[in-house]
Amino acid sequence: VIDYQEWPDMVHVFQHFAPMINEGYAAIERIGEFAMSEALDNELENSVMDLRDTMLGRDPYTIPLDEIDVAQPALFQADAFWPFFDRLRKEDPVHYCKESQFGPFWSVTKFNDIMEVEGNPRVYSSADGISIAPVNTSALPVEMFIAMDEPKHGEQRKTVQNVVAPKNLAELEPLIKERVGTILDSLPVGETFNWVDRVSIELTTQMLATLFDFPFEDRRKLTFWSDVATTQPGPDGLVKTVEERRDVLLDCLKAFTELWNDRVNQPPRGDLISMLAHGEATRNMQPYEFLGNLMLLIIGGNDTTRNSISGGVLALNQNPNQYNKLRADPGLIASMVPEIIRWQTPLTSMRRTVTEDTQLRGKQFKKGDKVVMWYVSGNRDEEVIDQPYEFIIDRERPRHHLSFGFGIHRCMGNRLAEMQLRLLWEGIMERFDMVEVVGEPVRSLSTLIKGYTDLPVRLHPKK
Ligand code: HEM
Repeated sequence: VIDYQEWPDMVHVFQHFAPMINEGYAAIERIGEFAMSEALDNELENSVMDLRDTMLGRDPYTIPLDEIDVAQPALFQADAFWPFFDRLRKEDPVHYCKESQFGPFWSVTKFNDIMEVEGNPRVYSSADGISIAPVNTSALPVEMFIAMDEPKHGEQRKTVQNVVAPKNLAELEPLIKERVGTILDSLPVGETFNWVDRVSIELTTQMLATLFDFPFEDRRKLTFWSDVATTQPGPDGLVKTVEERRDVLLDCLKAFTELWNDRVNQPPRGDLISMLAHGEATRNMQPYEFLGNLMLLIIGGNDTTRNSISGGVLALNQNPNQYNKLRADPGLIASMVPEIIRWQTPLTSMRRTVTEDTQLRGKQFKKGDKVVMWYVSGNRDEEVIDQPYEFIIDRERPRHHLSFGFGIHRCMGNRLAEMQLRLLWEGIMERFDMVEVVGEPVRSLSTLIKGYTDLPVRLHPKK
């Protein structure tokens, strides 16, 4: 929450708002208009707050369809967004929201429509950004291939995708297994602790340090940099100002530049920095592009896997019959893992920008329109997924979901993420009878990252 009283002048207003809405041109214009108004503070406060929390606590079926705005962080934090999407899928599956804190946007809510948008990257471009609430890096002009179109996207993806090739994953497996074991053996049995911090964050951070061959003792810096890049600066934030965030990201750039210089002068190796330093398409990257690709890999492999690790524990606790099924047959871990990823859907959505006038389900999109593909909704589409609200660990086609996207941008790390989750659950089932959730989970305040900051648990050892 930003404290408006703290802003002494318009420069600060823009500095606070630009990163938050740097893709919401309409919203920026709106702030520009307010800047000329005499009652700046009041209007700004009222307008932004109004747009932000208008849906929470309301029955989605009594709101006129054209007033529905699903892009509200509070809705996701309260886990209250589901019925909004249920209604949109039934009554207006391709829905236009004319006003939101991120400007106007289209919502695509059904599984097959999302596949259609993903399948046509020429018309639905990624180059203008990929989240409705932008990844918060505008203090530095960071470039990432997830937010590029062809041919540049394909060239850069090709250079780094080897790190997650089956051969490399097989080589990584024993190390991940060992690290999973060390983490699980260090946990306090019988005491309440936060699973998110002790397991979900720790394991994903260790994996990132391994992928980058980053100094192991400094690994929490990776989590810190990722968190700083994706959260808002503000009085209660991890960093207080845009300048502070820029300094943190510059530290990140400095650390990785040193590693780059080290690797570029040595023969190519299997870690990501070495691959970037020696790859044909990436070795001449600008510093901000280099940082962008690193941030993409850090962020891509961080929040998502982290929240799937926490989500799995929650899903099994909410569905004790499935936990029993798993205890009876731990061989089901292989099909449970993709079901956890569908059930959790760690990224709510991805966004595209229309490059030419086109149609979807009879709705007319104009060049420049923003189109948000809501994976959270597609993954609950009853026309494609049987009993979509149920968590079923032995589904027939568990990998048939949208959590990794689809098409040319489909998640590069999907097999790595699945492997981490599989090894973790094998380790858990070997050691514990139950990871019991003993308090309410605290969910993230975000329209993009669907996850948890706290999940209090207690471990029950195997009898
Ligand atoms: C892209 C989800 C784990 C690296 C994506 C996309 C999604 C996603 C939705 C965009 C797909 C699209 O636009 O069609 C997830 C989920 C994960 C996960 C749910 C865990 C459960 C990882 C890991 C890595 C990673 C571990 C690290 C290696 C990437 C990269 C891209 C990407 C590099 C960009 C691909 C491109 O634009 O070509 N991910 N991800 N992800 N992910 Fe993941």
